[in-house]
Amino acid sequence: RSASTQAEPIRVVVTGAAGQIAYSLLYSIAKGDVFGKDQPIILVLLDIPPMLPVLDGVVMELQDCALPLLREVIPTDEVEVGFKDIDAAILVGSMPRKEGMERKDLLKANVAIFKTQGAALDKYAKKTVKRIFREEKSKSFWYKGHHVLVVGNPANTNCLIASKSAPSIPKENFSCLTRLDHNRASSQVAIRCGVSSDKVKNVIIWGNHSSTQYPDVHHAKVDLHGAEMGVYETVKDEAWLRGDFISTVQLRGAAVIKSRKLSSAMSAAKAICDHMRDIWFGTKEGEFISMGVYAAGNSYGVPEDLIYSFPVQIKNKTWKIVDGLPINDFSRAKMDATAAELVEERDTALDFLSQ
Ligand code: NAD
Ligand code: LMR
Repeated sequence: RSASTQAEPIRVVVTGAAGQIAYSLLYSIAKGDVFGKDQPIILVLLDIPPMLPVLDGVVMELQDCALPLLREVIPTDEVEVGFKDIDAAILVGSMPRKEGMERKDLLKANVAIFKTQGAALDKYAKKTVKRIFREEKSKSFWYKGHHVLVVGNPANTNCLIASKSAPSIPKENFSCLTRLDHNRASSQVAIRCGVSSDKVKNVIIWGNHSSTQYPDVHHAKVDLHGAEMGVYETVKDEAWLRGDFISTVQLRGAAVIKSRKLSSAMSAAKAICDHMRDIWFGTKEGEFISMGVYAAGNSYGVPEDLIYSFPVQIKNKTWKIVDGLPINDFSRAKMDATAAELVEERDTALDFLSQ
């Protein structure tokens, strides 16, 4: 028997498992792209009752992939089954926007899902937390062992609501996906510089996964034939960097919808894999990535009690906001604008939920 067959399987739940993002995502997870090539997996697929027949088809296809790491697939429409003893939860299940909508227009349709699911995580994921906590005699094990990633839009505010609805789970265990925007920004810079995307690092997405997000390349580097250069000094086109580059990234989701008549799925699934893999295995030395995390009111002047996308580094399954980057007036204004939108979204969401 190989080492891989002896390792304990981890339990990963994907919600919205009958949808289009999940269809691209599940294969990558099940073949070891995210949690490691030696890590057996139990995949729990949660969707709503009318989608159960579709889920059966997804289960059949996963079986037919004959993936050695995939130990079990559990389709369900019950949160108590879906969230029981999970190691990682990827919350995708929700309505996507259509052409002409902003993501925050989905708030009314989607935020209640994340309130319910946060509460269910609090209730059903809790037992595992306590057991691990006692075994390890260390509070930090909970921080390390479990993670909830919110993808469904508007992702930042849904994530905040899920976290608020799960008071027994530390806020650090929740994050929302802005890695797709991060990848879009890296790729735009790479195309402009004529290099492959792995030669670009340390772009930052600040704030909301919305059209007010601020893709910032003041601290980003390009590897040009072995020499590490700043993006501003390499591109030498401030008008582009402060104009079309920013708006292309901000509006990319809408552009994909206009063209495909469906929202991004392949690239979203890839970004989810990048995000979760970095949580599991850490970020590379000297590099940072973007993700939406809880703003405690002590980073970059961002108001407290928001899920705001920051540059983060991850080590030992624990993320840390990269501190001390110099922020110029141009950046400051954009970071404040996206924070203001998040404050408004949060207040609207809390209003909806109190009605
Ligand atoms: P989709 O419509 O193809 O699939 C969504 C699935 O969620 C459906 O199967 C639906 O039945 C299911 N669902 C709805 N309510 C549910 C609930 N309460 N519990 C479990 N499942 C539920 O949509 P999609 O294209 O997969 O997109 C899903 C979400 O992800 C959308 O909100 C979309 O806007 C968002 N998204 C976010 C990002 C990001 O970068 N953060 C990127 C792409 C898409
Ligand atoms: C994206 O950025 O592609 C997703 O958030 C989907 C959308 O609505 O734009």
